[in-house]
Amino acid sequence: MAGFERRMDVNLAELNRVANAMVAPGRGVLAADESAGTIKKRFEAIGVECTEENRRDYRELLFRSKGMSNISGVILFDETIRQAAKDGTPLVKIVEGAGTLPGIKVDKGTKPLPFCPGEVVTEGLDGLGERLAEYRGLGAKFAKWRAVIDIGAGIPSYACVNANAHALARYAALCQDEDIVPIVEPEVLMDGDHDIDRCAEVTEFVLKTVYEQLYYARVKLEGTVLKPNMVVSGKKSGKQAPVQEVAEKTLRVLKECVPAAVPGIAFLSGGQSDLDATARLDAMNRMGPLPWKLSFSYSRALQAAPQKAWAGKAENVAAAQAAFAHRAHMNSLASRGEWKPELEKAAA
Ligand code: 13P
Repeated sequence: MAGFERRMDVNLAELNRVANAMVAPGRGVLAADESAGTIKKRFEAIGVECTEENRRDYRELLFRSKGMSNISGVILFDETIRQAAKDGTPLVKIVEGAGTLPGIKVDKGTKPLPFCPGEVVTEGLDGLGERLAEYRGLGAKFAKWRAVIDIGAGIPSYACVNANAHALARYAALCQDEDIVPIVEPEVLMDGDHDIDRCAEVTEFVLKTVYEQLYYARVKLEGTVLKPNMVVSGKKSGKQAPVQEVAEKTLRVLKECVPAAVPGIAFLSGGQSDLDATARLDAMNRMGPLPWKLSFSYSRALQAAPQKAWAGKAENVAAAQAAFAHRAHMNSLASRGEWKPELEKAAA
């Protein structure tokens, strides 16, 4: 049966080249892989009907923005990787034409984890090798799998962290076997009323477990990109840690856990404000030298502004493209440690 005989060797030089390109200086990833349910929620918030055409028009707008010059890769959803723009050009070709790598979300979302109340595990491993081979044919150079870990009273459990880390490692190995770079995304959620030190403790536990499982699965770290949360105070905590503390505590945990063989770390934004996501990334890059590149793989922190500017109206497309280009530029500067708050006001 096709796909049964797994190779021991991988094209590590090519995987490493792609992973490095994803975190090239001044560039980061646009996560545009919102699932059908998530994009519906985003569109509802701006009063836009969630039709296939509107989803296409919105994503086409982003991919044709000049902001793409700061975007190394775009994570696409299954629908988008198969979609064509209004003029018939495949959206993948528009992404490639901007000098950006197409990528694909391959996990199938979360399900409750039995006997672990309040915890979930990400599914999607069945048939994944075959799906990856198809996505590679459609142009995908990298993939994404998101594991979700919540913090609360008595959670996360070892069962939850281990099950999610194991699935991430199985996914990453299958990706590399298909010459696709895996983005390894273990997200510790920032919902909750915990303080920043609790977030640090859980993030460390999660990352240690993930790298242990990647090792057991024989994943080649040089051909991966890590997409973690930053270490922050819970959203409902009464005390929000300042930028400098977030940067210091995040770097301390990452240095404890992430081997230097990993080419780059591209943070998720996770519900931080646009400005926090930029300022905190910038602060970390000012604390170098670091063993890996530190960049972004934001969805909300890159797209909230253009979505608001667009509001589903053709006459707002240019304004939405400008809003996206501005955030991409600010985060590009932050990935070099060259962002300044004054630059935000200049554009406002
Ligand atoms: P946010 O930046 O909105 O957290 O999304 C990143 C992402 O791709 C989550 O999987």
